[in-house]
Amino acid sequence: MKEHYSILIVDDEVAMRELMKKILNQVEYTFSEARTVAAANRLLEKRKYDLILLDLMLPDGSGMDILEKISVEYRNRVIIVSGAGTVDIAVEAMRNGAFDFIKKPLDNKALSATVSKALQLNQQLDDFRTLKDKLSDRSRIDEIIYKSRSMGEVVQKAKECAHSNKTVLITGETGTGKELIARAIHYSSERSQNPFITFNCSAIPVGLAESELFGFEKGAFTGADKPFQGKFFLADKGTIFLDEIGDLHPEIQPKLLRVLENGEIFPLKSAQPRTLNIRVIAATNRDLEENGDNCQFRKDLYFRLQQVVIEIPPLRKRKPDILPLVEYFVNLNNLTRSKQVEEIDEEVREILLKYPWPGNVRELKHAVEEIMSVITCPKIKVEHLPSRFLKHHEAILPEGSFLKLQDLEKNHILCVLGATRYNLQKTAKILGIGRPVLYRKMKKYKIKRIK
Ligand SMILES: Nc1ncnc2c1ncn2[C@@H]1O[C@H](COP(=O)(O)OP(=O)(O)OP(=O)(O)O)[C@@H](O)[C@H]1O
Ligand SMILES: [Mg+2]
Repeated sequence: MKEHYSILIVDDEVAMRELMKKILNQVEYTFSEARTVAAANRLLEKRKYDLILLDLMLPDGSGMDILEKISVEYRNRVIIVSGAGTVDIAVEAMRNGAFDFIKKPLDNKALSATVSKALQLNQQLDDFRTLKDKLSDRSRIDEIIYKSRSMGEVVQKAKECAHSNKTVLITGETGTGKELIARAIHYSSERSQNPFITFNCSAIPVGLAESELFGFEKGAFTGADKPFQGKFFLADKGTIFLDEIGDLHPEIQPKLLRVLENGEIFPLKSAQPRTLNIRVIAATNRDLEENGDNCQFRKDLYFRLQQVVIEIPPLRKRKPDILPLVEYFVNLNNLTRSKQVEEIDEEVREILLKYPWPGNVRELKHAVEEIMSVITCPKIKVEHLPSRFLKHHEAILPEGSFLKLQDLEKNHILCVLGATRYNLQKTAKILGIGRPVLYRKMKKYKIKRIK
């Protein structure tokens, strides 16, 4: 909460202004006063108020004119206090974004309750907006949550390379924050005012990927009735983020190499190359070197990509980050869901710290969302945890006793399924098995396909 709220009282009667100040007599409120439309407008030009108490019948005009003028900036921050209280006027005021309408003569309790309700709501909205801005596209290095040394090193490296034009290869398991780091690098660099364009190299047919990336000229193929600017073109002067680079089709790999070496692209059927100024950041959750040996991923491209390599460790290897991340997402959910969860039970902390987080930070974020969607009390307790945590907990708990291998396997499959929200393709990928093998195992352990 803010320490001081500034309230502007617009009313022509001095006695009324004094009365309102008396009713709202709070140390955290500071008051400004105006008795006419003109005086109010002058004050409103000078500074922003947290709340306005607005009378309608003023000597030089109507309070409604003020409200209309400031309706966008002061949405939900104006309370109309008027003797002229017809339903029509109240409706018009609300339509113009007033928070509430209070009729004179004043009811002391109604005034103070409405004022504090309005201030509280606006404070929450402001907090939410600040957090949303932080989390939106413009995420910056300073807003990455971590406490571990290993993540500290990652952030340090990201900071160092933000101001260079070097190509960056970010590696790490799914959900570790590769895209977050890529965005942070871009928005901390001199390119931050220019676009950050993402392209996912997997699951897109080679022909389509090529035109998506490099664009095409008019008439390049049947139906190409106008030229198309690809992702590289859009990213000129900015950054392109090539996600899942390990899946980049072998036919496109040399073309990417050309961009990296000369900054040149050839749109499809174009006779002329275009020279661009682009920073490339690539990410993968696979080992590209291994791929290189299988001739899937060109070695020269692999070496060219890794001018800087940032390896994000899995969450289970940076346990000090777990609880700060949980607290962060709890706070975020408190704001978005208007809840007030303030405590985490010790036992829950232990379970969360022991849990292996196969889906990393993304899984943690979803788990907190799951908890926050059901919780109604201020403390997170064991019973609020999604069942997969308990299953896992039981599996590792009994000291001195040992699990059967197949129980362990079943638990682990359940755990990864939970982390991927039952996405079988991702689950199989994380487990390092083919989908048919996963189906067989799920059948064997009687795990249902849809949660
Ligand atoms: N250190 C962190 N602090 C705050 N939020 C984080 C952090 N790491 C990850 N996140 C959040 O977790 C989610 C997953 O992160 P991100 O999308 O960057 O992962 P990724 O490595 O690109 O995953 P994938 O390989 O599956 O694409 C995002 O919502 C991201 O904002
Ligand atoms: Mg990603």
